Amino acid sequence: MALDIALLPRRLQKLLQKSLTSQKSIAFRLCFIGFLIFDEFVNVDILGDRVEGRLLTGTTIGLVIAGGAYVSTVDEATFWEKRPDPSVLGLEVLGRKFSNPIGLAAGFDKNAEAVDSLLGLGFGFVEVGSVTPVPQEGNPKPRIFRLRQEGAIINHCGFNSEGIVAVAKRLGAQHGKRKLDETSSASSTSNNKVIHGGKAGPGILGVNLGKNKTSEDAAADYVQGVHTLSQYSDYLVINASSPNTRGLRMLQGRKQFKDLVKKVQAARDEMQWGEEGPPPLLVKIAPDLSKEDLEDIAAVSLALRLDGLIISNTTISRPDFAKKYPVAEETGGLSGKPLLNLSTNILKEMYILTRGKIPLIGCGGVFSGEDAYKKIRAGATLVQLYTGFAYGGPALIPRIKAELVECLERDGFKSILEAVGADYR
Ligand SMILES: Cc1cc2nc3c(=O)[nH]c(=O)nc-3n(C[C@H](O)[C@H](O)[C@H](O)COP(=O)(O)O)c2cc1C
Repeated sequence: MALDIALLPRRLQKLLQKSLTSQKSIAFRLCFIGFLIFDEFVNVDILGDRVEGRLLTGTTIGLVIAGGAYVSTVDEATFWEKRPDPSVLGLEVLGRKFSNPIGLAAGFDKNAEAVDSLLGLGFGFVEVGSVTPVPQEGNPKPRIFRLRQEGAIINHCGFNSEGIVAVAKRLGAQHGKRKLDETSSASSTSNNKVIHGGKAGPGILGVNLGKNKTSEDAAADYVQGVHTLSQYSDYLVINASSPNTRGLRMLQGRKQFKDLVKKVQAARDEMQWGEEGPPPLLVKIAPDLSKEDLEDIAAVSLALRLDGLIISNTTISRPDFAKKYPVAEETGGLSGKPLLNLSTNILKEMYILTRGKIPLIGCGGVFSGEDAYKKIRAGATLVQLYTGFAYGGPALIPRIKAELVECLERDGFKSILEAVGADYR
């Protein structure tokens, strides 16, 4: 299944973009689902980064086309999650109303190419990025490796990004400009003519900011990201935890973390916001932090009134089973099932350290409603996934939501917010 749109061959990227953005091209979209299904079940890695001895045969292509043609004759609603979410999943946080707490994590749609269609799959919110100020290629391919038997992925993408201006143009055209007063002069894109659509899009959109590989001044990169992209976002994220950009994770040390958050908050607040005010600012942290690091981050976050934390990014650690797989020797971040407990434990510690005062987004290893529920009980107000979606495909999202409703009902919770941190209250 697709891991990163930018990794697809150019022609497939175009087809995907067309199929995902055109309201009318149901057949295209369903053909794409056909691709995903066959990619997953016929074991043909059409979209993945590494093809391990598998061949895209003529028969398979025929089957994919036949599958696409067949499903295009069926009512779209059968395949596309369009029903409203049950009210028990709705919640208000970060100044926004979410119809459900399940979001797509950063890294899947790095360049904001398919936001509306991804929201259309039933996600409560979608986070695009990480976006770097200047376009950059990222690390040489292959850079994404599956450990299929373990439900895991190792990646060392290294922030492949089309850059803030390209993403701003795309979001401006698709989603419209959010919140910023017309009088503001803060946008650094004025010379690049970003098209403003006029009003916010229908779904909740997070923008995750990264730094360029060659940049010496990380804070300046994030500030540039804020100036250019905050007006399109419902929330902003400083990604201080990717293991694939040298020095990035040092930003999680107490002094660096404090300086960085202050500078980025100031840059955001200096912009001239309309009535609604600026978008909330969150920081995404690693699951490999020591107890002391977590205490420092909690203290600074409380002191600076940070709007939220995302816990967590991928891990640089490797579980014991990794010895079985040569691919596990690849450098980079491990995500998926092996990350579930590690990231949930860090989330739990952070919930306790911040005394439930800061909204936390739980991320790492979510493959089911039960996994999402564990994160919520551990202190997450919202939950994100990437690897689960990469393996499970679009059908996983309604399934996770249905299972989550069952978990809440089973334990007698009438809302998500009632269940947040239930293990420690
Ligand atoms: C291929 C790949 C690329 C990723 N790129 C980014 C990124 O650009 N920025 C970011 O903050 N996280 C990135 N992530 C991390 C995910 O957002 C998420 O935090 C992590 O994978 C754990 O969640 P999961 O187990 O559900 O995948 C990436 C993950 C993968 C697998």
